Amino acid sequence: MIKELNPSTRILMGPGPSNVHPRVLKAMSTPLIGHLDPQFIQIMDEVKEMTRQLFQTNNQITSVISGTGSAGMETCFVNLLEPGDEVMVCVNGVFGNLMCEIVEPSGAKLIRVDAPWGKPVDPAQVKEAIEKSSPKVVAIVHAETSTGVLQPLEEISRMVNDAGSLFLVDTVTSLAGTQVKADDWGIDAIYSGSQKCISAPPGLSPVSFSQEALKTMDSRKTRVQSWYLDMSMIRNYWAGAKRAYHHTGPISMIYSIHEALRIVFEEGLEKRFERHYRNHKILRDGLEAMGFEFLVAPEYRLPMLNAIRIPAGYDDALIRSRLLNEYNIEIGAGLGEFAGKVWRIGLMGESCTLNHINMLLGALKTIFG
Ligand SMILES: Cc1ncc(COP(=O)(O)O)c(C=O)c1O
Repeated sequence: MIKELNPSTRILMGPGPSNVHPRVLKAMSTPLIGHLDPQFIQIMDEVKEMTRQLFQTNNQITSVISGTGSAGMETCFVNLLEPGDEVMVCVNGVFGNLMCEIVEPSGAKLIRVDAPWGKPVDPAQVKEAIEKSSPKVVAIVHAETSTGVLQPLEEISRMVNDAGSLFLVDTVTSLAGTQVKADDWGIDAIYSGSQKCISAPPGLSPVSFSQEALKTMDSRKTRVQSWYLDMSMIRNYWAGAKRAYHHTGPISMIYSIHEALRIVFEEGLEKRFERHYRNHKILRDGLEAMGFEFLVAPEYRLPMLNAIRIPAGYDDALIRSRLLNEYNIEIGAGLGEFAGKVWRIGLMGESCTLNHINMLLGALKTIFG
């Protein structure tokens, strides 16, 4: 007989998921109602409104995709691109690479702008690349979780808008932890994930599209490559006059993000961003006092994802497994070219507390002697 679930209570300080507030877990156990029940439609409308506020946008087409952040990424690309279009993707880590992989089957022509991992993409590079081509879409990651780089967006956004291209931005790790201003920053397609600074379980991806993006979607000549992620149908379910069935809405997940977003706005966006920066600085001071070095230059560091170099002579996997097994603390391994070279310490949403920081610093002090 397989036993009832009983996983350990972990202190989640990796690249996501983050810890979830008990109120969010309680919301998930709310009795189910139908996904077309007028009461559920009301809950969806509230989620939509809070998602708009979180993205700092008035975009009419703002909703939550049933799937993780990668589903949001794919939704943005497949709805905007048609075979033969040119799309420029800025790559300075794993998630820029993932964008390229998602673009490939669309039949669009991919133009990569590669920058060194651990550094932001230089606007001059983007300018040069835009001048040499005429991309329909320019895509970039705001918070590169694989390296801990915060990408400044405003200068690049102006170039993209001046060139008449659509600006597509990944805010999976940044949203609800630092400023994300979809309208002020001229972003046409934006997506995120529920499990990072929003602190709901993984499984939902907030998305939003500008009027320009909407016009592009409405004037498509070919069908969207994915039936499940086709916004022309999803938006009827989320915003249409008739709220037509497309797929069964993930009721309990929507309950979870509804409560998580309520918690975000109870705290207030500015206070939440300030908490992430304040705690990042406390963690940074503690780690630097122990001799750890950060991968990223101070002005481009993400507050919610701290990438530090593993000191020479220490066994990456052994120390992470000691943290997990002896202290119940999860931190992230390095990815791609930083595998075995860095640790990624998350301070996201409910996991961004002094308690989390003190527990990790205490454990590291014991392990490193
Ligand atoms: C920046 C970024 N983009 C996209 C993703 C993909 O999201 P998911 O793993 O939720 O599908 C992640 C996941 O960590 C991410 O950090």
